[in-house]
Amino acid sequence: MDNQPKVYIKSYGCQMNVYDTERMYDLMFAKGYTTTDSAENADLLVLNTCHIREKAAEKIYSELGRIRQLKDKKRAEKKRLIVAIAGCVAQAEGRAMFERAPIIDILVGPQNYHILPDLIDRYDNGERHLIETEFNINEKFNRLKETSQIQSYTCSSFLSIQEGCDKFCTFCVVPYTRGAEYSRPVEEIVQEATLLAHKGVKEITLLGQNVNAYHGEDKNGRNISLAQLLNRLIDTVPEISRWRYTTSHPKDMTQELIDAHGQQKKLMPWLHLPIQSGSDSILKAMNRKHNVAQYIDIIERLRTQCPHIGLSSDFIVGFPGETDADFQDTLKLVNTIEYAQAYSFKYSSRPGTPAAEHDNHVPENIKQERLQILQNLLNTQQFNFNTSKNNTVVDVLFEKPGRREGQISGRSAYMQMVNVNANHKYIGTVQKVFIDTVNANSLGGTLVSEALHLQNEYTHNQNISS
Ligand code: 5AD
Ligand code: SF4
Repeated sequence: MDNQPKVYIKSYGCQMNVYDTERMYDLMFAKGYTTTDSAENADLLVLNTCHIREKAAEKIYSELGRIRQLKDKKRAEKKRLIVAIAGCVAQAEGRAMFERAPIIDILVGPQNYHILPDLIDRYDNGERHLIETEFNINEKFNRLKETSQIQSYTCSSFLSIQEGCDKFCTFCVVPYTRGAEYSRPVEEIVQEATLLAHKGVKEITLLGQNVNAYHGEDKNGRNISLAQLLNRLIDTVPEISRWRYTTSHPKDMTQELIDAHGQQKKLMPWLHLPIQSGSDSILKAMNRKHNVAQYIDIIERLRTQCPHIGLSSDFIVGFPGETDADFQDTLKLVNTIEYAQAYSFKYSSRPGTPAAEHDNHVPENIKQERLQILQNLLNTQQFNFNTSKNNTVVDVLFEKPGRREGQISGRSAYMQMVNVNANHKYIGTVQKVFIDTVNANSLGGTLVSEALHLQNEYTHNQNISS
């Protein structure tokens, strides 16, 4: 089928974009396209972009410089290359992108990429510089249902249940690029999860920019919370052995959801709960709608329900007006919580957001210094957390072959990468692993079943020889 047109999609940024990229593949497969893993072989190249920090957007423009050369080369060879930009940069920059990078043929925002196949038809009919950036979220999910899940899935999959954000943190572009909060109806989510289970998926991560603000309707028109949705999914899709959700906001961390961590064994003992800063005055300036004491209280209640829960967060250093004392408060908070893992970023001014208008920006060298100090602390905590699993047995869902010959690779309940030497037949299954190696970003060990097998063989041989 070598004459089939080929699509290559490069995904940047968050897990939401990973999910959207999979859906765009579904749409293009339904249109007769096949996939390729290199831009050189593609007839259609899509960059699914991220606008969250300045660097993320700039990356797209430098990538477009390289694509221009590729497009020229292909044109000289009489081959075509349609260049489409999807995601939050397309949404935020809109038509201006055509001026800065005229090689772009199509622009679609995160809430209307479902019409990409139609735009390609219009391109084929001779139209150029096509753009669609309206918010059509309802229509999007309805259209996606028609083509959903055509492509093959790995054993761990994302399922988008909520999109957009009404929180308006003063540093963040998401409410402008992804639009208002929207929760998908319960039945639609159950259907998608069931389909994934039938495909052999073992782990589902429910996605949303504000996933714990989920309040979708069930078939009786009742509003269902995230905790209720999780209970329903765990009951109705028993083939899924692990459930996760991300990303949560502290304000929506209800007691009902905290309790679910104590009650539901299939809900992984892991929570990504961004706080951004450990200073109350910075949290206020960020419009985070909670203070440090409330955050600590949530963590304490979580640890009461699920004492071994692993915690993760996002931090921004150098928010406008952040003093050294504010930064020390962030370090104090990190020392109080003890994270298993966390992401940290230098504040980056985003056009159109309220924080960008401040006149008390922190100098770059101070931001860099603070980031380094915070990351050193977080790395130490991550290493300590990983070390606490040494010489213990952990459950690992094996997802793929490892980097080294003979290895397979998977994740623990705490999202740690675990590599073991074992047969590929274990990929797609949860196995017990005895951890004996701790690296900065991964763990190593032995399958308990293999170790028992070897031990039995050894005992058997001993019996024979004695
Ligand atoms: N500058 C730096 N980091 C940001 N984030 C969001 N917006 C900005 C910004 N303007 C970070 C936050 C958020 C994560 C996804 O990205 O920490 O939780
Ligand atoms: Fe952005 Fe804040 Fe909404 Fe998260 S909660 S997406 S940081 S505005």
